[in-house]
Amino acid sequence: MMIDFHCHILQGIDDGSHDTEESLALIQEENKQGIQTIILTPHFYAHRDRVDHFLTKREERYLALQSAMKEHHMETTTFYFGAEVYYFGGIGKAEMVEKLCIQGTDLLLLEMPFCQWTREMLDDIRGLIRTQKVTVILAHIERYFSFQKDKGIMNQILDLPVILQMNAGSFLAGSKFMDFEGKKKRRKCLELLDEPDYHILLGSDAHNMHARKPNLAAGRAVIAEKIGTDRLLEIDSLGERILCRD
Ligand SMILES: [Fe+2]
Repeated sequence: MMIDFHCHILQGIDDGSHDTEESLALIQEENKQGIQTIILTPHFYAHRDRVDHFLTKREERYLALQSAMKEHHMETTTFYFGAEVYYFGGIGKAEMVEKLCIQGTDLLLLEMPFCQWTREMLDDIRGLIRTQKVTVILAHIERYFSFQKDKGIMNQILDLPVILQMNAGSFLAGSKFMDFEGKKKRRKCLELLDEPDYHILLGSDAHNMHARKPNLAAGRAVIAEKIGTDRLLEIDSLGERILCRD
């Protein structure tokens, strides 16, 4: 089963979809690509929003989306509530973390800062894992590498029992249109995928139907070609296992 673990398809809650019409188009595109299970992961920023406010807003937007889907007789899609939680100092001890995990799981999609990672960040991630008993999914892991001039902390984080989420788009545009940074990101993704010890999931990180559209199918095609379909099967079965775990 193909699962989109990261997207901004829920309307009116972050910089993703603006309205139900755009959300319906995004969901239709996901369905067209064979994706029927979608984790809704709007951005959550602790410095801007309160958890309860965020959860209420997410629920409201979801109900509106559901009724629009019904009205348009859209096919069945399984949704899970989630959030893309931006790192903040002290998250390793913060009480609200559990409420931001993917619905019915202990999985937290964590967006790390785009800077050199520090020991404090490492300690917070350890706190999430060891004290809070959360399974950390590092959102779009390939986007942080270029900021780690000192690779020490990142290597220690990668050695922890974390799951790495990659954006399908990072495998694409492998043509002359891809810039140097893009090529480096793609190479890094392929290197990580080639390493069987890393637990990896995929997401579209779709925001809209133009610049950041659903692209899981195209990203998977690159993985199938460069790494092989067995790795895709592993990714899919990991996704199913962790969603179904009590
Ligand atoms: Fe995102």
